[in-house]
Amino acid sequence: MAEEQTPPAGPDLTKGVASADFNGATLLGHVGDQDVLLVRSGSEIFAIDAHCSHYHGPLADGLVVGHSIRCPWHHACFDLRTGEA
Ligand code: FES
Repeated sequence: MAEEQTPPAGPDLTKGVASADFNGATLLGHVGDQDVLLVRSGSEIFAIDAHCSHYHGPLADGLVVGHSIRCPWHHACFDLRTGEA
């Protein structure tokens, strides 16, 4: 049985994003076929893999605190600056 491909999420981030379209803490988009999450932390914006490295949890639904994001499924925490768990 062939695995069904899901289309990439959100806007194509290689084309840029208007600041008016990014008014929350996160914005889910894609680069090629890779889902990418933009995360605002203070005056900085980070681009990270949209899925948790544990069981692929949706980091777009995660909690942003300072320079970290916490996965909503099992609460793994990732540094936005380094990606380190
Ligand atoms: S899927 Fe993210 S902590 Fe388990």
